[in-house]
Amino acid sequence: MIKVENLTKRYAGQPAIQDLNFEVGKGEIMGFLGPNGAGKTTTMRILASFMPPTSGRATVAGFDVFAQSLQARAHLGYMPENVPLYSDMRVTEYLDYRAALKGVPHRRVAERVGDVKELCGLKEVENKLIAALSKGYRQRVGLADALLHEPDLLILDEPTIGLDPNQIRQVRDLIKNLGKQHTILLSTHILPEVEMTCSRVIIIHKGRIEACDTPENLLGKIRQAGGVLLEAKVGADNGVEELKKISGVRDVIVDSDGDWKIFSLRVESGADVREEIFRLATTRQWRVRELTQRRATLEDVFVEITHSDSI
Ligand SMILES: Nc1ncnc2c1ncn2[C@@H]1O[C@H](COP(=O)(O)OP(=O)(O)O)[C@@H](O)[C@H]1O
Ligand SMILES: [Mg+2]
Repeated sequence: MIKVENLTKRYAGQPAIQDLNFEVGKGEIMGFLGPNGAGKTTTMRILASFMPPTSGRATVAGFDVFAQSLQARAHLGYMPENVPLYSDMRVTEYLDYRAALKGVPHRRVAERVGDVKELCGLKEVENKLIAALSKGYRQRVGLADALLHEPDLLILDEPTIGLDPNQIRQVRDLIKNLGKQHTILLSTHILPEVEMTCSRVIIIHKGRIEACDTPENLLGKIRQAGGVLLEAKVGADNGVEELKKISGVRDVIVDSDGDWKIFSLRVESGADVREEIFRLATTRQWRVRELTQRRATLEDVFVEITHSDSI
């Protein structure tokens, strides 16, 4: 559905994206992840034919986004980062206007506008002025707009930015639902969102693709594969030495809280060492107040890949 080859964009000589290569297959929900300034918006604007690349090429549904932009655009709905809405229009009025602008045949406008209002949960605000809507509803109007001409592909640039947690959940559910019928490229820096909605993830950093895989595979690849937390009173034992002997344990760091010792164990990917720890604790008569497995999250992957930023 999307094919990007050696895509590069420079602004006044400064590269914003460099030599990007990726593909998004039909029906995929692809997360596009990266810190601010990574190049997400630049890439999406090129895909949506809003500006040409400096070099390289991209196609949408087989059409070159630059040379065949009309055909490419017919296949995609784009929701930009800052949804540009006419705030003095009412919701229905705005969508009617946008449908006409997008070339939806006159006789089909009412039906399409009705459908997208239904899909995006806008019925209850259809007669309200856009200026009077909450940010969450405005995002939905932006999404409805992107859907008007029935594109197979949706390109959504930070659709949940600036929303409160409830609104984020609603928009996320909506996107998940849309994913049943559409191919989606979704940029965000909210990581749990990606874990919950995306089939694959691209991590972009400083204009380059650093990783492209399923969330599960990305989690499997990182060094910090996961860990176990143990809080125990170990008496005269050292604790660390005994724990390190357990197979699957790579490293143990210890801290203390009064008489309690707090052990952070790094474990091999896929290993569950809790049963062995429990057995050890029982044998050595340690008193245990906490034994938990901490799973690596996409946030760990992200930090590991992009941590040069924070140094
Ligand atoms: N219109 C522009 N003119 C000059 N530089 C720009 C412009 N738009 C973006 N940039 C620069 O390009 C880089 C990528 O920006 P952007 O694509 O907006 O990243 P993201 O959406 O991931 O935050 C940044 O360094 C940004 O400062
Ligand atoms: Mg952006």
